[in-house]
Amino acid sequence: MTEVPEHLLQRAAEARARLTGAPAPESADGDAAPAAAVPAAVTPDPTPAVPEEPKAPEPVAPYVEAGLRRKTMPVWIIPVLVFMPFWAIYYVGYLENPPVTGGFAFEGGEAYGVQCAGCHGGAGGGGTGRQLSGGEVIATFPATDEGVAQMVYWVASGTAGAVDGVYGDPDRPGGQREAGSFGVMGGFGGGLSTEELAAVVYHERSSFGELDAETIEHELHLLEELVHVVDEAGESFDGASLDNVRLWVDAASAKLAAETEMAAE
Ligand code: HEC
Repeated sequence: MTEVPEHLLQRAAEARARLTGAPAPESADGDAAPAAAVPAAVTPDPTPAVPEEPKAPEPVAPYVEAGLRRKTMPVWIIPVLVFMPFWAIYYVGYLENPPVTGGFAFEGGEAYGVQCAGCHGGAGGGGTGRQLSGGEVIATFPATDEGVAQMVYWVASGTAGAVDGVYGDPDRPGGQREAGSFGVMGGFGGGLSTEELAAVVYHERSSFGELDAETIEHELHLLEELVHVVDEAGESFDGASLDNVRLWVDAASAKLAAETEMAAE
């Protein structure tokens, strides 16, 4: 029979002890079985489990740390993002309209589409309101200071503002317009700003009046100047008399003539 080495016997005894729960016998050479070898279930630790200290975050590489520290979106990008669509709209408008005349003409077209096209048609062909296209608007309100003043006054005050029941050129082919002969148009002096009203007059005259380019340019400057005159006087087209409007147009026309003279020198 082969001798089983002492240390193997000892290990077997220890294993048996672990399974049965009996204490392991001391080894012959006095080697105590390590306490850790006894499972916790067999001899439970009487002290309650101490909650673990929260672990310090694991150290990360410096470049990862820099990435985590950095905000994903810098604060200054917010106003930039908010502003961008407006810039895009402005830029498209800028491309479509040369800067000098663009604002006024664009504004007039906008106002016409919103306030007038419903009755006068998108292309000025008429409907509930009279036809303006084909030069009709200029037949009623000729390309003179008086014609412009009469038209501004008409758009501001409408049918109800007509002086002596008539409006426009007394020598109009087919006779002077009689107010109310085609229906009733309300006044826009209260609904449109000074600039919008002048701009919509410009839009109708330049788009439907069949005027030559030089006259259109002159009327643009005249109507822009008219806005300055009215603004500087602290006045408005709302409730203004035809004579008021005539005076303002005359003042604008005189300023324009003086500027043209100065530019020519
Ligand atoms: C509710 C419909 C309506 C709207 C909106 C309207 N109009 Fe009129 N417009 C008329 C009618 C109706 C007449 C004819 C009035 C009359 O006979 O007294 C007229 C006449 C005119 C005339 C005179 C044309 C001519 O040869 O006799 C002009 C210019 C004019 N409108 C410009 C405008 C402008 C500018 C706007 C927008 C700011 C506008 N209208 C909005 C109904 C309208």
